[in-house]
Amino acid sequence: MKITVVGAGNVGATVADNLVRRELAEEIVLLDIKEGFAEGKAMDMNQTATLNGFDSKVVGSTNDYSKTAGSSVAVITSGIPRKPGMTREELIGTNAKIVQMVTESLIKHSPDIIIVVISNPMDTMTYLTSKTSGLPKNRIIGMGGILDSARFKYRLTEQLGCSPNDLQAQVIGGHGDTTMIPLINHATYNSMPVTQFLSQEQQDHVVKETMVGGATLTKLIGTSAWYAPGAAGAELVESIVRNQKKMFPCSVLLNGEYGQDDICIGVPVIIGKNGWENVVEFDLSADEKEKFEASAAAVRKMNAALDENL
Ligand code: LAC
Repeated sequence: MKITVVGAGNVGATVADNLVRRELAEEIVLLDIKEGFAEGKAMDMNQTATLNGFDSKVVGSTNDYSKTAGSSVAVITSGIPRKPGMTREELIGTNAKIVQMVTESLIKHSPDIIIVVISNPMDTMTYLTSKTSGLPKNRIIGMGGILDSARFKYRLTEQLGCSPNDLQAQVIGGHGDTTMIPLINHATYNSMPVTQFLSQEQQDHVVKETMVGGATLTKLIGTSAWYAPGAAGAELVESIVRNQKKMFPCSVLLNGEYGQDDICIGVPVIIGKNGWENVVEFDLSADEKEKFEASAAAVRKMNAALDENL
């Protein structure tokens, strides 16, 4: 088994690091356009084999896609990250061309691949990959909701003073500061609604902080985050590779589900060996439905900008 990670920057390298520690494939190919960069990161990771106790191998490559041949899964992290004050949406001009080129190169060498998209603006990059790859729709998965849900649980933990592992919570909708929808009324603390334990003020605080989760980190670090995005990418790949059938909110091409068509946006899906297997329909309230529709409208507007940027 071979898994490819395109982009050896902070997010890509952290995805590769998580994949190799979890021994999800014999070979993890890490590819970057910057000469020697992926090779260096791969060597550094391989030198942790005896320290972290794994037998998998990371292979670095400077833009040589023949090294990725026969990959079962690829994770695309290419493109520029956000700088403080920037939205994910502002990256489209640069990232659309890159993501399209990466997709074409991957498919040339691995025609049956499953592609996980992390590059931003993530929902639009997933839509672009879905539309241009020619792959069955189930083989294209946008990773944003798993990360946003992990951040949601982090904020809930702060307020509840509980273990994050006692929480179940999902963020659906677009992966944007104003488009994501943390479903607080569906979140549970060991099967009990979290709303039972939190004041309205605390609930509003959790939702607000979750939505700006990425921006908060970008402001603090000076570039976008990588530990949680990298771990979230690996969590998604693990469910594919081990056919775990986990349910995660992911950005997938909808065909009538949630009343939406011809759009990639975050909804709960089951993830297994063939990619995303089916969409799970939440029983959303009128208010949540309204928010989902507004989120879809914002993502559609971004998708419409693709034509000018390719
Ligand atoms: C974030 C980027 C990866 O939310 O979208 O940190």
